Amino acid sequence: MPEKLASITAVHGYVPDHVLTNHDLEQMVDTNDEWIVSRTGIKERRILKEPGKATSDMGVEVVKGLLEKSGTHPDEIELLILATVTSDMNFPDAANTICDKCGINNAFAYDLSAACSGFVFALHTGAQFVKTGAYKKVIVLGIDMMSSIVDYTDRSTCIIFGDGGGGVLLEPNLEGNGIKDAVMGGDGSGRKYLYQKSGGSLSPASAESVANREHFVFQDGRPVFKAAVSGMRSSVESLLSRNHLKKENIDWIVPHQANIRIINTLASMLDFPMEKVMVNIDKFGNTTDGTIPLCLWEYEKKLKKGDTLVLTAFGGGFTWGSILLDWAYTAT
Ligand code: UT7
Repeated sequence: MPEKLASITAVHGYVPDHVLTNHDLEQMVDTNDEWIVSRTGIKERRILKEPGKATSDMGVEVVKGLLEKSGTHPDEIELLILATVTSDMNFPDAANTICDKCGINNAFAYDLSAACSGFVFALHTGAQFVKTGAYKKVIVLGIDMMSSIVDYTDRSTCIIFGDGGGGVLLEPNLEGNGIKDAVMGGDGSGRKYLYQKSGGSLSPASAESVANREHFVFQDGRPVFKAAVSGMRSSVESLLSRNHLKKENIDWIVPHQANIRIINTLASMLDFPMEKVMVNIDKFGNTTDGTIPLCLWEYEKKLKKGDTLVLTAFGGGFTWGSILLDWAYTAT
């Protein structure tokens, strides 16, 4: 009996129409295009501007695309996991709102929060339900509306983040293609470098917390940069070594898009060619949970059945993780 794996059978993405360029940011804070491009690789990012729209509305677009591409009826979906740090509300989870708006009536759904590593955590989680045979159709999403928690008076963070995301449909595969292994990690002592100070149980919202701008993202960039490089590098190396793979066996690395310098450094440390590293940070910035599915969506046509991919992410917490998978289809 061949081993059952959870494979990605469809991928879709969504970004809002509104483009926020580096030039636009020059009008808002003391920054410039040259600094942003040379320090981060970002040229523009997308912002969800329409009043009343939130993360779940982007999720609806992604799920509709996944269902249409795969010819799946909404009632066939059994589980939906949404990785996000910008759910519509603290509760209920936006995952349930997405199901309601898409007519998914037979699934249980929940949000998962692991900052920028959320999508790989959610994919690893969702894959277990398929691999064990518990479910046959699982949707995993990674979507964020970072503009809802970014301080557009803080030049050190507002230039980085954007809105958008994507997702995948997971189904069983008996041909040997699918999610093969994952190395996940965490270090809570890193929490002081990247966080949203207020709005949780430690410091509930108050007039003072709002006045002190504590509901926005805080990041101490340099230590996060260093930890991101080492976390992604070590998890990729462990994944390769324990699966007896050399870098030549990998067709694509799909890194979280936080900074082009992090991506370049990672590729150089792994001695891996940049032509085989997915990059779209220039257009979308850092969409937190959205970056990896947005890369898969954009590169879908270049992927062939049997290609070996390594997804790798690092985020607040600290959290990190890498996933090894063989792609299950060639897009037509
Ligand atoms: O996605 C989750 C994980 N997040 C990450 O992986 C992000 C990791 N960190 C980074 O990507 C980088 O640290 C940043 C892009 C956030 C910042 O780049 P940096 O090269 O580490 O800059 P820095 O914070 O050390 O600042 C260098 C200088 C400072 O000026 P002085 O003190 O040297 O005079 C900053 O004030 O650049 C200044 N600066 C800016 N200048 C123009 C900071 N932000 C800006 C800006 N425009 N937007």
